[in-house]
Amino acid sequence: MMTRLLNFQPPNEAALLAAVDVIHAGGLVAFPTETVYGLGADALNPGAVRRIFSAKGRPSTNPLIVHIADVIQVKRVAAAWPEAAMKLAAKFWPGPLTIVVPKHDRVPDAVTAGGPTVAVRCPSAPAALALLTAVGVPLAAPSANRSGELSPTTARHVMKSLAGEVELVLDGGPCTGGIESTVIDVSRMTYRLLRPGLVSLEALERILGPIEVPGGNDFDGEAFPSPGMQTRHYAPRTPLELFATHADLDQRLAECTGSRSAVLRLPDSPEAASAMLYEELHRLDAGGCDRVLVVLPPDEPQWLAVRDRLLRAASPA
Ligand code: TXA
Ligand code: MG
Repeated sequence: MMTRLLNFQPPNEAALLAAVDVIHAGGLVAFPTETVYGLGADALNPGAVRRIFSAKGRPSTNPLIVHIADVIQVKRVAAAWPEAAMKLAAKFWPGPLTIVVPKHDRVPDAVTAGGPTVAVRCPSAPAALALLTAVGVPLAAPSANRSGELSPTTARHVMKSLAGEVELVLDGGPCTGGIESTVIDVSRMTYRLLRPGLVSLEALERILGPIEVPGGNDFDGEAFPSPGMQTRHYAPRTPLELFATHADLDQRLAECTGSRSAVLRLPDSPEAASAMLYEELHRLDAGGCDRVLVVLPPDEPQWLAVRDRLLRAASPA
């Protein structure tokens, strides 16, 4: 299959019309969001959803996030919308927060991996909202990379991973957030953080009160209840080595003469670090070095998501 790549700064009616045609025909469109690029298909068309899994080589046991244009569309995919979900959506949507709630019967089992819940998100990137509004159907969309690879934050990353597998890639420039959305499950009595992200745990707890963090705050165990949260994920091909201090990193660097080491220096703010993390890992991965060395940010709440992605990227395959 030939993959079309179209520039997409809305309003761009030609690109939008092309995307709508592909989605309505059961095809795949990669599109920018404020977190990472998504690989979208009509969430209510089981055949289209199955194509997402085959394009990514994704295990069918890992459920997909359903993207909607506004909170009104929730009732098309959710069987219930608990008060907690209502409060979170009012505060954080559109934006990088995914809310897990009981699923509506009309959502195909392929989307939820046969489970009773559905993960829903209303993204804030204007390009994503323009697409969702134009297609008029909810879009199931995982990150637009082959399973196990780094998530894409530019259209070029998507093309490198999935060219030939998708009909259309919309190029809306680099994603501003840079890491995947926060995922919270409010389908049960106890709220659970399933994936840390740009919406912080404290911000969620200010709205909901205490939230369970399965596996504790270190996010490096197998304890995650979310099927997609196996330890190694978001991983570059080049081995990534993490260090507690700059001195430890320098010592390793000194040991590694005769081979090529790259050092990834993270900015001081979690937001800036998130925004550059995958782009830098993609770049270093393409650069052909033998290892990438990083000082792990401090074990503090505001660094939860960046630490999570680094620990996953560095864990052995
Ligand atoms: O920022 C994002 O969330 C991006 C953009 C494209 O929106 N999407 C994304 O999708 O990261 P993906 O498929 O790479 O990650 C979805 C995560 C997985 O860990 C999956 O297991 C979890 O959400 N998930 C999806 N549905 C779920 C459900 N019903 N219950 C629990 N976890 C669920
Ligand atoms: Mg992913």
